[in-house]
Amino acid sequence: MNIAPHELHWRDAYKLMIGSILPRPIAFVSTIDPYGTPNLAPFSFFTAICAEPLLICFAPMRRGTDGRKKDTLVNIEATGEFVVNIVGERIVEPMNETAAEFDPEVDEFQAAGLTPIPSQVIRPYRVQESAIHMECVLHDILHFGDQPGAGSLVIGKVVLMHISDELYADGKIDMEKLLPIGRMAGHVYTRAVSDTFMLERKK
Ligand SMILES: Cc1cc2nc3c(=O)[nH]c(=O)nc-3n(C[C@H](O)[C@H](O)[C@H](O)COP(=O)(O)O)c2cc1C
Repeated sequence: MNIAPHELHWRDAYKLMIGSILPRPIAFVSTIDPYGTPNLAPFSFFTAICAEPLLICFAPMRRGTDGRKKDTLVNIEATGEFVVNIVGERIVEPMNETAAEFDPEVDEFQAAGLTPIPSQVIRPYRVQESAIHMECVLHDILHFGDQPGAGSLVIGKVVLMHISDELYADGKIDMEKLLPIGRMAGHVYTRAVSDTFMLERKK
């Protein structure tokens, strides 16, 4: 079957995209608005870019109903700062709570029963229940339209990483203890470490 995405409604193209690019890790992004209200939301269009400088990126889409920017994007454009909290299996339920469409003045930490702890370099809070936090300053934002289904790419420079002592050994992260999860399509998630296999890279 051959399908040209531009001939589909964007929601149908979206379904084919998220059913093909998977599993996806989840950035649990914490921001703060200029008046000090915290915001927290998950984004699975999330990946690494490079190590020097240490750059990561995620992509908030425009709201499906009216094309408005999501609060996370509005806050990052206003303040230039965000924290990426890594989502492990233990916090999937509260993570999911924060994905509901709350008004900008709602503090999603409170709504989901998560604990905000201060960052060291930037203003947005970290999620205490998350085992890894990346304090990021905005490097660049690219916008790809402003209609429903459009989106932006937010690139952040990691200025400080916080890693739970119990996960850290010999300069590496113990994935068995992190219990990373991935998002599939629809409401399906996957456990990343329960069925791993080895494949050595050829020289
Ligand atoms: C696991 C998960 C992953 C998500 N990934 C994305 C994503 O990559 N891009 C996006 O625009 N929305 C994504 N969402 C939806 C947003 O989290 C949701 O729209 C949220 O309300 C945005 O909050 P905000 O307005 O406070 O920024 C995801 C939701 C869940 C549950």
